[in-house]
Amino acid sequence: MRKKITVIGAGNVGATLAHRLADKQLGDIVLIDILEGVPQGKGLDLLESGPIEGYDLKVTGTNDYADTANSDLIVMTAGFPRKPGMSRDDLLKANYDVVKDAIGKAAKVSPNAILIVVTNPLDAMAQTAFRVSGFPRHRVMGMAGVLDTARYRTFIAEALNVSVQNVQGFVLGGHGDTMVPVPRYTTVAGIPVTELMPKEQLDEIIERTANGGAEIVKLLKTGSAFYAPSAAVVEMADAIFNDRKKILPCAAYLEGEYGIQGLFVGVPVKLGAKGIEQIIEIKLTPEEKAALDKSAASVKSLVDVIGV
Ligand SMILES: NC(=O)c1ccc[n+]([C@@H]2O[C@H](COP(=O)([O-])OP(=O)(O)OC[C@H]3O[C@@H](n4cnc5c(N)ncnc54)[C@H](O)[C@@H]3O)[C@@H](O)[C@H]2O)c1
Repeated sequence: MRKKITVIGAGNVGATLAHRLADKQLGDIVLIDILEGVPQGKGLDLLESGPIEGYDLKVTGTNDYADTANSDLIVMTAGFPRKPGMSRDDLLKANYDVVKDAIGKAAKVSPNAILIVVTNPLDAMAQTAFRVSGFPRHRVMGMAGVLDTARYRTFIAEALNVSVQNVQGFVLGGHGDTMVPVPRYTTVAGIPVTELMPKEQLDEIIERTANGGAEIVKLLKTGSAFYAPSAAVVEMADAIFNDRKKILPCAAYLEGEYGIQGLFVGVPVKLGAKGIEQIIEIKLTPEEKAALDKSAASVKSLVDVIGV
């Protein structure tokens, strides 16, 4: 039996994600959106790519949650993207209504699904999805860390003129300007990055990583990034469907880990068939812990506004 994946939102992230999922043949795909015709049209277009790309998947588009029933994975991408000058937090209330409505309907007909939230502001929307779905915490996660880390790795590889595959590291904290890259745990072919570039250069990269989303928004003028975000979701979906036990930075609901209680924050987790199979706790220096706490406090301030 092929897996069934529902992608809520057939916009830039959702449609590109459906395209990438089909290319990787990860499962049958249902695209759902409030716009009539758009998910159907994009779904049909992707279906018709099958004979050329060599996949036999079902790709469909709909406006009716009944068609999403019994999904194994639901990816929430619907909502409004940032406009230039707009922070992720400005999106809070508008996207809260969207997530509440869509996840309420989707979770009801797919009670055993794993949920990956992409809609911004990410951590607060993941928390909304967690509360609205009533799913256990290992089946609800937010995508941000994989994307932020990919940006971080790209900039380091570019600066050192080495393969991106040599660069390993991760970004902690909320998906926002307070995210916490951890240079101490960043390596290039096993060599600590701190031995390969001066602190000032690494600080510039960290700053660029934290503003990575805004850099693209500024260039595009309308809309925000979608190629790398959709690639990041595919890495998570692949880890889940193939039970890879892959350690990836994801927004997870913390219940005391890292001294944080009752909040979605980006941390390294082990992703496998059950979803989040373990939250990996690493030792942080007092400065790193302070940065993580600051990031968590900014997530908390949003969550308090919407009361989730
Ligand atoms: N977590 C991350 O790292 C990350 C990265 C990129 C984008 N995002 C976020 O993802 C979201 C989508 O971005 P995008 O570029 O695809 O935007 P987009 O405008 O291209 O697409 C959004 C789609 O959502 C649909 N939609 C709106 N309300 C809906 C509802 N109630 N039910 C179903 N569909 C609905 C719209 O019709 C539209 O097709 C934004 O919130 C954006 O900020 C997050």
